[in-house]
Amino acid sequence: MLTEQPLSDHFRGFAAVAERDGGRTYPAICRGVADDDEVLSILDRASPPQRRPLILLAAVHFLLLSGVEHPLAAHYDTVAAVRGHSDPSPADPDPTAAFTDFCRAHRTAVEELVATRTTQTNEVGRCTGLLPGLCHVARSYGADVPLSLLDLGTSAGLNLLFDDYAYTYRSAGDGTTLRAGEPGSSVALECEARDDLTLLPALAPLHVAERVGLDLSPIDPRADDEALWLQACQWPDNPVRFGRLRAALANVRASDHPPRLERGDMVVDLARVADSIPGTNPLVVFHSWVAAYLDEAEQRALADAVRSLDGVRPVHHLYCESPFETPGLPTPPSPVRREGPDLATTLVHLGPGGAAAQRLADTHPHGYWIRWWPTSG
Ligand SMILES: C[S@@+](CC[C@H](N)C(=O)[O-])C[C@H]1O[C@@H](n2cnc3c(N)ncnc32)[C@H](O)[C@@H]1O
Repeated sequence: MLTEQPLSDHFRGFAAVAERDGGRTYPAICRGVADDDEVLSILDRASPPQRRPLILLAAVHFLLLSGVEHPLAAHYDTVAAVRGHSDPSPADPDPTAAFTDFCRAHRTAVEELVATRTTQTNEVGRCTGLLPGLCHVARSYGADVPLSLLDLGTSAGLNLLFDDYAYTYRSAGDGTTLRAGEPGSSVALECEARDDLTLLPALAPLHVAERVGLDLSPIDPRADDEALWLQACQWPDNPVRFGRLRAALANVRASDHPPRLERGDMVVDLARVADSIPGTNPLVVFHSWVAAYLDEAEQRALADAVRSLDGVRPVHHLYCESPFETPGLPTPPSPVRREGPDLATTLVHLGPGGAAAQRLADTHPHGYWIRWWPTSG
């Protein structure tokens, strides 16, 4: 019989993961409250799948970003950035006491958020893999053939506007750089190319006809409350990533071609939403960091469902997922031997007409680096 891990273990585990990813504030808070029954009991109000540290941390972050005044704000770089404070300098470097005091003082509001929200992310950094992936697909068509895009697990649909962003790829080998996308965009994405920049496909501007996203709980980026919740789900000590998300939200809110977002399940509702996209031009069904939410049988059903769309129009399947969490997807093995699981995602392409899966690249989960495999051209 499976037994549920105690919450305190989840907090200690999350602290280790956040620390490995360069976090400081959340590791300190999570270790500090791991045995605090009063704080942990707030999560009694969360639904079982959400009963994890991140929903509590996001609820507190959300209230601070909404303007609640409390000494805890001095520990959050993101809150300082939003409030225009350059140096928050907290009196006590350990945020735990301020965090527990915040939870006590605002318990009702925190409980309400924990009970009604789910954690959500939309990582525009993943566009550093999506852009070359789409360029790889586009080069089998003439420049005048537009692609239509369907993003599964789209969240707020921010990655559907990938061509609004500015990209800088820097070779890890010789330091040379390659710029692509929209120069001067407020959403500036930097990516290390391992090892050779010349392996990337030509990153020419793409012609996009339709941009559609499908999500179980889509975020409406034009709704202030939903956009703020998305920001609150980020960590408070990575202002660069936070600023990038805010810029991407501002971009979609001002866009004259915002993506159409549909509510539904990526397997069950795939055909319905794909059929709603007009035209016979090529359709690229893509997804990033979402198939891990499906079990292995559902992942197989997803691959089959995308394949069975092919017919009226050429359909390409492009995904960027963790291979260790998606055994049901047809990801080819790595061309190089690995010692064990690492923090990489794979960019895989399946072309129309039953073309075999091609492992195009390995990427950092937030798009900070990309290793494009030479065999994929
Ligand atoms: C980790 S986020 C990734 C969002 C986006 N793809 C990205 O790369 O930034 C996962 C998203 O998948 C959505 N999701 C999870 N299961 C889903 C399903 N079965 N069908 C559709 N969307 C799903 C969640 O609501 C969430 O928005």
